[in-house]
Amino acid sequence: MTLLEQLEIKHPIFLAPMAGVSTPQLAAEVSNQGGLGSLGLGASTVAAARQQILETQALTEKPFQVNFFCHKSSALDPHISKQWIEYLRPQFEKYHATPPSELKCIYPSFLDSDDYLNLLLETRPKAVSFHFGIPHPHQIQALKQAGIITMVSATNLAEALEIEAAGIDIIIAQGIEAGGHRGIFNQSFDSAVKTSDLVQLLKQYCSLPVVAAGGVMNGQQAQLLIKLGAEAVQLGTAFVQCKSSNANAAYRKALFSNPITQITVSISGRPARGLINHWHTQIDRPERPDVAAYPYCYDLGKQLNAVAVAQGDEGFGAFWAGTNVAQIREMAAADLINQLVLEMNIHL
Ligand SMILES: Cc1cc2nc3c(=O)[nH]c(=O)nc-3n(C[C@H](O)[C@H](O)[C@H](O)COP(=O)(O)O)c2cc1C
Repeated sequence: MTLLEQLEIKHPIFLAPMAGVSTPQLAAEVSNQGGLGSLGLGASTVAAARQQILETQALTEKPFQVNFFCHKSSALDPHISKQWIEYLRPQFEKYHATPPSELKCIYPSFLDSDDYLNLLLETRPKAVSFHFGIPHPHQIQALKQAGIITMVSATNLAEALEIEAAGIDIIIAQGIEAGGHRGIFNQSFDSAVKTSDLVQLLKQYCSLPVVAAGGVMNGQQAQLLIKLGAEAVQLGTAFVQCKSSNANAAYRKALFSNPITQITVSISGRPARGLINHWHTQIDRPERPDVAAYPYCYDLGKQLNAVAVAQGDEGFGAFWAGTNVAQIREMAAADLINQLVLEMNIHL
């Protein structure tokens, strides 16, 4: 069975799950046009995740994927946390605010309990993908028994081999070009492989279907990755500009006016690629101490952004984008799918 038959989709194009940016409307537009729509639910409570899944199911009868985070929850080191708060204190003071004295774990991991799993068993989306790691064996087993297709991001061969050994169905090969968080399992090791090399590497050593993610903005780039062995491509940045995404006005403007990206750990505590702003120019300085652990660090990052925005400064937003953001086109999601399909066929 091909990947398209397995997922029951017409085109080998996935909308990337994008926590905070994807919406039921955007997911449904992509699915209704024959791609695989997605919901990024890693930052949602179980109740909010349920609502988004039900809303999407009401907008499309076609398959879509949902996405959760499988980070290993680490205890917060009080010394590092205090140091990080103190490092950012002058930034808060610039906006006449004070930082919190403690950091909160703002997102649970899929691994922490079976609450998200039970939601999936109840709502039965076609597919579920995971970022930052692999679910527990009993969770994979339960998803399989429910007929839900499982996918996990890999950024290198070691992660891909772990994914295959765990009995997952599909590997999302996330290259260094990708916008948003690196899916790396172990933050202290990042081999930074580019998407096209990663696809070839995984096709050589793994037998699972591979979906290429990172730097794809047009059909020609998509087709190149498919020629290298990818069964489909997953695009995030290209869809952020769609009217039905949840991106705010400052983010939309920056996508078109400041298309340079860099990876930073300072916003969330995990490496993530976004448009260059205050995080890269004012925080990532040589004297920067170790960042607090993910997602505690993100708690502070979001609070700093909120106080800055309240004073009219949008420079601390988490404006995730991939390296090829300069090629972004202003288009509705359905038109973008049609355009990608057209371009893929021209270059067959
Ligand atoms: C705004 C944004 C948010 C993202 N959020 C998630 C997420 O919640 N879960 C996930 O697995 N990947 C997330 N990603 C990464 C994408 O899955 C994908 O790897 C990436 O978008 C591909 O690169 P591209 O942005 O160049 O298309 C996000 C990417 C962006 C741009």
